[in-house]
Parts: sequence; C-alpha cells; structure tokens
Amino acid sequence: MPTYIPEPFRIKMVEPIHLIEPAARAAALKAAGYNIFGLRAEDIFIDYLTDSGTGAMSHHQWAAMMAADESYAGARSYYRLKAVMDDIFGFKNFVPTHQGRAAENILANLLVQPGQYIPSNMHFDTTEGNLRARGGRPTNLIRAEAYDPQARVDFKGDMDIAKLRAFIEETGVANIPLGMITITNNAGGGQPVSMANLRAVSAVYKEYGIPFIIDACRFAENAYFIKLREPGYADKTPIEIAREMFSLADGATMSAKKDGIVNIGGFLAVNNDDLFQRIRNELILREGFPTYGGLAGRDLDAMAVGFMEALDERYLEYRLAQTAYLGESLLEAGIPIIEPPGAHAIYMDAKALFPHIPQTELPGQALAAALYLEGGIRAAELGTVAFGYTDPDTGKEILPALDLVRMAIPRRVYTQSHLDYTVEVLKRIAAKRASYHGYRITYQPRLMRHFTAQFEPL
Ligand SMILES: Cc1ncc(COP(=O)(O)O)c(C=O)c1O
Repeated sequence: MPTYIPEPFRIKMVEPIHLIEPAARAAALKAAGYNIFGLRAEDIFIDYLTDSGTGAMSHHQWAAMMAADESYAGARSYYRLKAVMDDIFGFKNFVPTHQGRAAENILANLLVQPGQYIPSNMHFDTTEGNLRARGGRPTNLIRAEAYDPQARVDFKGDMDIAKLRAFIEETGVANIPLGMITITNNAGGGQPVSMANLRAVSAVYKEYGIPFIIDACRFAENAYFIKLREPGYADKTPIEIAREMFSLADGATMSAKKDGIVNIGGFLAVNNDDLFQRIRNELILREGFPTYGGLAGRDLDAMAVGFMEALDERYLEYRLAQTAYLGESLLEAGIPIIEPPGAHAIYMDAKALFPHIPQTELPGQALAAALYLEGGIRAAELGTVAFGYTDPDTGKEILPALDLVRMAIPRRVYTQSHLDYTVEVLKRIAAKRASYHGYRITYQPRLMRHFTAQFEPL
C-alpha cells in the first residue's frame, strides 16, 4: 500500500462538488461534442483537467491580495513581485504577463522567422502552437527513455546532449533563433530535468551562441526532484537549487498558474537589455504597461507570495508524495502509467490500457470519455488529439509516440479519499476495457485542436 503524507495545511473554506447521474453524464458529454473541455464544471465530480490556475491559494496569498496596490504604473505590488523575482530567478529584466502563453507569444513574435527551428527536450502544446503560428519548427530532443513508459529513470525529462549537438550542426546556428528546455517536462509525463543536464544544455547553447530560455512552469517541483535524486543536492534548499538552475539560462517563460499557485499570472524574463526593450514594447501593445502586464496589482502580490510557498520543503514533500501515491496505487491496480510518477500529474498510457483501439481511432480520447462516463472525472487527452499534426513538408499526418491521458492534480485541492475514488473508477474501466470503442474527429481547427475539436464515437 503506497503511503500518503498528511496535508501540511488544513481546510478553512470549502467548495461543494457533486456526482451527477450516469445518464446526465452521458447527455452532457454528447452535448459537448465528446470533448471534455466543453463540459460545464458543475457537471464534474473530480477535475484533473489541469493543475494550471486551479490550485487553492493560502490565507497569506489572500491577505496579500487585500493589501495590493492597483496603481497603473510603478505599483508597490510590482516591486514586491520584483524583489521575489530577483531573489529566486535572478534575471536582469522581467515583465509580468497574464499567463505563460502570453510570454511565449511575445518571445516567438520577436525571435522566430518562418522555417526556423527551436530545440527543446519537449515543447508543451502552447509553446508549440506559438512557435508554429510564426512558421517556426519546434523540435523535441529528449532522451530516448522518455518514450518508454515503463523506464524508471530519475531524470526522464533530460535532453539528449548528443542529439542536440548533432541537430545544431545539421540545422545551422543561423536557423536556430533560441533554444529551450521545459522543467518539468509536462508533455512527457511531468518528468524532471537534472542540474547536470541543464548545465550541459546551457554549455552547448552558449558554445553556439544560441539564447537559452527555460520554460519554468514547474521549477519548484523540478528543484525538489533534484534535491531528492541528484548527488550533491540533498543538503541544498529548493530556493538554492532554483537559483542555480536559472543562473544557467538567458531567460525564462513562466505560467505562474503552476508553481506560482495563483489562478492567473506569468512572466517573461531575459538578461539581454536590447531584447528586453523590444519585449516591453510588444507587451505594451498586447498586454499592458510593463509593471502590470495584463494583471491586477492583487495578482502580482498573490504571485509573489505563491512563488515562495511553492518552494517550501514541507509543501514540496507532500506534493510529490501525493502524486506518487496516486501513481503507485494505479500501478498496483494494473493501470499502465508513465513511470516513475512525476510531480504534478499522473499520465496513463491509453494505448496500453486499450490495446484493441488503434491509435488513429484515438485511444486517449476514448479513455478521457470513459473516465467521465464512469466516474464524473475529467482528465486531459495528451496524445494523438493534442500532439498529432500535419507535417508542413510532406502533408502527412504525424502521430505522437505516446497516447497519454493526464490526470493533473491541482495544488492543495484534493485529499486522499478523492484519489482513492479515482483508483476505484479506473479499476472498473479496466475490468470492462473491451467494451470501449474509439472516436473520430468531426471538427478541428488548424492549431491546438484538442481544446475545441468535436468527436463522434465509432
Ligand atoms: C510546460 C508548460 N508550458 C507552458 C504552458 C502555458 O501556460 P498557460 O496555460 O499559463 O498559458 C503550460 C500550461 O499548461 C505548461 O504546462
């Protein structure tokens, strides 16, 4: 029996949730075009759609929001955030943005020309979408074990350094306007990146003069994995590890909706002053003045407190243990997941759970639908629907190597009994797996189709 670490907090405000009847769930899913993004939140019992912006804020965060400064320019809230930014991330310049993709949009808009390549361990869907929207070619160069769901590797999010070097040599530096890495690797199981790998990636980018930008969404969780697993870091605090990680990069994009534990917010940070000047101008055009960047003063204060709370060791110990509890309980029940469990989510291997559904018939979509129908649980397909695309050179439909369904665990929201219920629902699905069928897409937009695609059961 996996162990569960008691929550290092107690509940002082509650939000009722309800499990509606099976027939009502079936009707709701049909009305949503079988896309779980189209469901009304009140028709969902347990919502693992995302850990982004869905966390519970602490009383310290709410208190900070009450004392916020809503001045248009130069607000005290901005300077409180800046002090925390300087302390943790240490980049020379930053602007707040309303969320992660706003930072990605600005960066892609300023740096990427059509036909250029942007390497990373694995780009997340919004990063990929923003780069493709500028004609860029996001390229994933993660270590090979990341594609083996059962491979228990400590740092499964590491980039393959030999592949990165060969890629730069083949592509030519002139065709690579920036290089990235995602910590932790959300698209590949929420797996961490080691400090050794960050150091090596940084050295290669530096050698070729390619700006190195970290997608920092889950930096605190990544830092704690380094503390637990990487030799030489056991005695360092998460904030010390975070500082070292960011000292290796030229900048970062961040959705604070993850390890800022806020409902909205993010930032774009860079060391280069010229680039920053262009970022500020772009921000003013699209998001707002550089000291608020599309956010209210209270959002800036909530972020400043949230970044520090996300680095608290007792919180991080519980956070990683809670996710591991769900993952190990599912493995005990025979449900295939990406191993080892990551920090923010458990990713089920839909191809392995539903081997009778061919990948072209969307096993991940079938599993996401089954979870809702069987237990009122919402989880995200991160497989063929989210990551399949048409190759711009050949016109061929490219299927991703993995067909995953992600149950992302909102921070400080669900308790052990919610996780136990989830395991019971999945056991029931597995017991009648042969009765589930695939899906066909009836509508899809050109980019980021999983948010609005419509489906039909086969
Ligand atoms: C790794 C990663 N990068 C970028 C983003 C985009 O952030 P946002 O949803 O705040 O735009 C996300 C959000 O899920 C993410 O997980």
